[in-house]
Order: sequence, then C-alpha cells, then structure tokens
Amino acid sequence: MRKPRFHGKLPGMTTSVTVLGLGYVGLPTAALLASRGLRVHGVDTSAAVRATLAAGRSHIAEADVEALLERALRAGLFTLHAEPPPADVFVIAVPTPLGPGHAPMLGHVLDAARALAPALRSGDLVLLESTSPIGTTARIAELLRGLRPELGEVHVAYGPERVLPGRILAELVENDRVAGGLTPEATRRAVAFYRLFVRGEVHATDAATAEMVKLSENAFRDVNIAFANELSLIAGRHELDVWRVIELANRHPRVNILKPGPGVGGHCIAVDPWFLAHGAPEAARLIPAARAVDAAKRAAVLEQASALCAAGERVICLGLAFKGDVDDLRESPALAIAAALAQRHPGLVVAVEPHLDAPPAGLEAPLLSLDAALELPGTLLVLTDHRVFARLPPAALAGRRIIDTRGIFRRPIVPHREENA
Ligand SMILES: NC(=O)c1ccc[n+]([C@@H]2O[C@H](COP(=O)([O-])OP(=O)(O)OC[C@H]3O[C@@H](n4cnc5c(N)ncnc54)[C@H](O)[C@@H]3O)[C@@H](O)[C@H]2O)c1
Repeated sequence: MRKPRFHGKLPGMTTSVTVLGLGYVGLPTAALLASRGLRVHGVDTSAAVRATLAAGRSHIAEADVEALLERALRAGLFTLHAEPPPADVFVIAVPTPLGPGHAPMLGHVLDAARALAPALRSGDLVLLESTSPIGTTARIAELLRGLRPELGEVHVAYGPERVLPGRILAELVENDRVAGGLTPEATRRAVAFYRLFVRGEVHATDAATAEMVKLSENAFRDVNIAFANELSLIAGRHELDVWRVIELANRHPRVNILKPGPGVGGHCIAVDPWFLAHGAPEAARLIPAARAVDAAKRAAVLEQASALCAAGERVICLGLAFKGDVDDLRESPALAIAAALAQRHPGLVVAVEPHLDAPPAGLEAPLLSLDAALELPGTLLVLTDHRVFARLPPAALAGRRIIDTRGIFRRPIVPHREENA
C-alpha cells in the first residue's frame, strides 16, 4: 500500500471547511477532515441531526465514525450549525432524490448553495459531492454569481463520492477520486483538497466530466445487472439454470457477467441511471431499457411466488434489505416484492429480516426470526443474500420448495471432467 500523503495546507492556506449535509457522506467526510487538523463547521438543516451529533453520537450506523466524531468535538475542531459559517472550502453533500417522471430533484443542492452564499469570500472553493446531473456544478456557480456578484473569483468544482456503506471511512481514504473544476484553478484546488485525506489517486478533470463519471459508474452496474436478470428470465423460459450458464460463460477470458437477482436497490444504482438518461432522453436507450428489465424481473419473481400463494401455499420471504448483510431498505426489490405478495395474499406470507425487529412500513405480514419461520411449512423465497441464510444447513432446507433469486443455495462449482479437458 502506498504511504499516506499529507500535503499540509492548501494553496491559499486552507484551515477551515464548512460541510453542508451531515449524512452518510458528509458526516464521515467532516470527521475525517477534523482528524487531519482542519477546523470543520458541520451544517445540517435537521435540528435532530445537529443535536445528536453535538452530543457525540452518530445518527448513521457506520464503523468508527462515532469515535472520530467524539475526538473532533473534544479537540474543538468540529462545531455544529444551522447556517453555514465562513470557511476556505465548502463541501455540499446533501440528498439528490428522484422526483416525478424520474426527474432529478436538485432542491436540496440549490438550497445549500443559497445558504452558503452569504458566507462566501473571494477565492473560496465550493465543492459539490452530491450525485448530480451533468451541468449541476455550473448551475451552482451561476447561482452564486447571481447572489454575490460583487465577489471576485469563487472556485467551484465537483468531487463525486464512491463510498460503500459499511466501509465509508476506509473507502474515503483509500478509493481513487475524480475531481473536476469549472476552471483549471478550481480543479487544481479541488485535487489539492482531496489530497489532504485521500490515499488513492486523485484524478483531475473538468466538472461536467466528473459529473458524468459518477453517473456512468452506477449506470454501468445497473445495465449489467439488468443483462444478468434478462438472461435469468430467458433461462427460465427454457428451464435452464442461469447460474450454471453464467458460470460457464464467465470462463471466457473476456466475459464477466454479473449476478442476477430479484432486481437492484439502494439509493444509488436504482436512482442514478435516471440522472444520466434525463439529460439526453433521445440518446439514452439502453439505460431506460435496463430500468424496464429490472421492473420486469421484480414482476416475474412476484408472479412466480403469487402463483404458489394462489394455490394455497405459504411463502416465507427470506430478506427484505436490498442486498446481503446490510439493513438498508431503500428502493429494495426484496421489500417491494414481499409487500406486494402480502397485499395480494393476506395470511399466506411471512418475512424474515434479521436486521429488523418489526415489519417495516408497507409490509402487511408478520416478521419472524429465521428459526421460527423454518418451523412453518411453505416455500422459501430467497430475496436477499444475507450470509445467515446462505449458511443454512441442507437439513434445514430438505423437502422444501425454494425460489432462490440470489443463487445462495447453489453448490460451489464442481467442474465436470469434460469441461476441464
Ligand atoms: N450514502 C452513500 O453511500 C453515497 C455514496 C455516494 C454518493 N452519495 C450521494 O451523496 C449525497 C448525500 O447522500 P447521503 O447518503 O449522505 O444523504 P443522507 O440522507 O444520509 O444525508 C443528507 C443530510 O443532508 C441534510 N440536508 C438536507 N438538505 C440540506 C441543506 N439544504 N443544507 C444542509 N443539510 C441538508 C439532511 O438533513 C441529511 O442529514 C447524495 O447525492 C447521494 O446520492 C451517497
């Protein structure tokens, strides 16, 4: 591993940073910056979030963030605010949800820009980190120019975040980053800023390219998982084992098909591709098609399970989270399928989600422990690849009908002799 690079002060002597939005991205970033000796002003519109953080508690379940937060508060390097105080660098890490018609909603980002405008000084750097449609960084610069026309140059750049929940602090430091300014000087300052705490490479580009890079990463995942899901639907028609098909196809040196499942979820992969398609609808054909395949795969799983319920069979839904070993229900296909199934067949559906104590909103079905659910007769519908499900011994599954949308009960590959030849 490369040695940490600590570049000290930024050009222009950065000593303070104001971070707007203290969620999964903003809070770890703020805590990390404080741990590098910078004075960090944390800004969040939620009074509850500010109060929790001021008490030294993290409102996000993320390894080591609370310890870093406590240290930063004790050192007097992290303070909480409703309005942005002046600083050398402003980082915007507020939500960018999807609105009606799959249109990106930039209200939080624009509100954050408006809020920081009074605190801006000439020469400051404003860094947008929220996942945003192409052109958003330029829009922010225009907004700031309109609000503070008397200021000299304000540097505006985009620095997308690629962290994986559960490993955010580690990935903030280790991942490569892309930083793109609206001017070469803004890019230079953004790159220098990230080098204060990033050990990975920091790649310089322009703002619009950086915006598209971020969206392309998530659209790549979405399109390729949709391809795997389409293969699973085709294989189903031919009564073939799609997992075996993919395993063997991936023995080709230049083929790497991803895993099928009940659909993609989480707040990134199911959302960000629309940001890309929205800006150029006439050019974007594959991305909306991938989203449609995702919907078709969810529907196919639902219909398969629903047919069993219609025949009087109980269905035990294993997992509600959008992927294995996380508690995140956002855009979760597992939750959507379980909820729709329970709505269609009251009394015939139960769910198991080890990360929850009670059924989440929208699910009209009992939530049972894995052990209690396995006491019941019925089909197992695997919707999430939690390790605790994959480790179930064969005896616990014996004699059951299983719809394994994640392929967790497949045996490891035992190559046939002729395939090894
Ligand atoms: N969570 C991730 O793993 C991840 C990864 C990459 C990119 N992103 C992107 O980063 C951005 C932030 O995501 P997140 O997961 O940290 O969101 P989050 O919902 O966890 O936190 C956002 C915080 O911003 C606050 N907020 C809203 N409007 C505000 C405003 N105008 N001023 C100040 N604070 C405001 C909210 O109260 C909330 O505490 C999004 O664009 C997201 O797509 C997230």
